[in-house]
Amino acid sequence: MGMTESEKELLEKIEPEKIPDHVAIIMDGNGRWALERGLPRHEGHRQGVETVRATVRNSSELGIKILTLFAFSTENWKRPVREVNYLMSLPEKYFKTELPELMRNNVQVRLIGDRDKLPGKVQKAVKEGSEKTKNNSGMILNFALNYGSRAEIIMAVNRLIDQAGCGKISGNVNEKTFSKYLYTAELPDPDLLIRTSGEMRISNFLLWQLAYSELWFTDVYWPDFSKVHLLEAVYDYQARKRRFGKI
Ligand code: IPE
Ligand code: IPE
Ligand code: MG
Repeated sequence: MGMTESEKELLEKIEPEKIPDHVAIIMDGNGRWALERGLPRHEGHRQGVETVRATVRNSSELGIKILTLFAFSTENWKRPVREVNYLMSLPEKYFKTELPELMRNNVQVRLIGDRDKLPGKVQKAVKEGSEKTKNNSGMILNFALNYGSRAEIIMAVNRLIDQAGCGKISGNVNEKTFSKYLYTAELPDPDLLIRTSGEMRISNFLLWQLAYSELWFTDVYWPDFSKVHLLEAVYDYQARKRRFGKI
């Protein structure tokens, strides 16, 4: 596929040695994208999956090492059953058509979130996707499914209490130990968080891990998010001065 002029321009300006290692994305605006076109909301989700395919490819091409996508939150169960059911049909479809390309691109799939409460067919699809790709050594692709950050933190606390109760850990817990009990154990925190659709909030995503991430917002709805937006986000990120509290 040919590159557009603006993609070329951005790619020339981006410094390859300063690509963010870990990019997290709140993929928002599918519903509004559809409604603005007079379509039912699920058409927005359908198109959103196409954006996921392209963004995974573009991110891995760019040299991003970890891509974490917020696909379904613990709060999204509050939506109408029909919409929830449609969303729950997507992982199976995605892996069915996308596994060959994920393998070709050496992508390793993982799930973050409470898998136990997901429908069996979703658990099966994600399990297959992660098992088949587990030896791939390229980009790590985390799907946040039935993910909520507060729930994650509470899960970590309860696991720590259990471990302390049976004497497996003792003494005080520090930040490093605590991080190991989160779904993102062993992964570095996101360098860059992208949220589409113009909302400027975190919506219970990676509250602990985003402590020092650079934030990038765009009004573009997720189904319209394309390579040029990803490149813009990375280019803006490279101009940020990350201080981590220092001067
Ligand atoms: C993001 O789009 C997808 C999910 C949250 C599952 P939305 O469905 O939230 O779309 P809007 O925000 O209502 O437009
Ligand atoms: C955040 O989007 C969750 C996902 C993108 C999966 P929402 O659409 O659920 O967030 P709010 O409700 O606007 O905060
Ligand atoms: Mg939304």
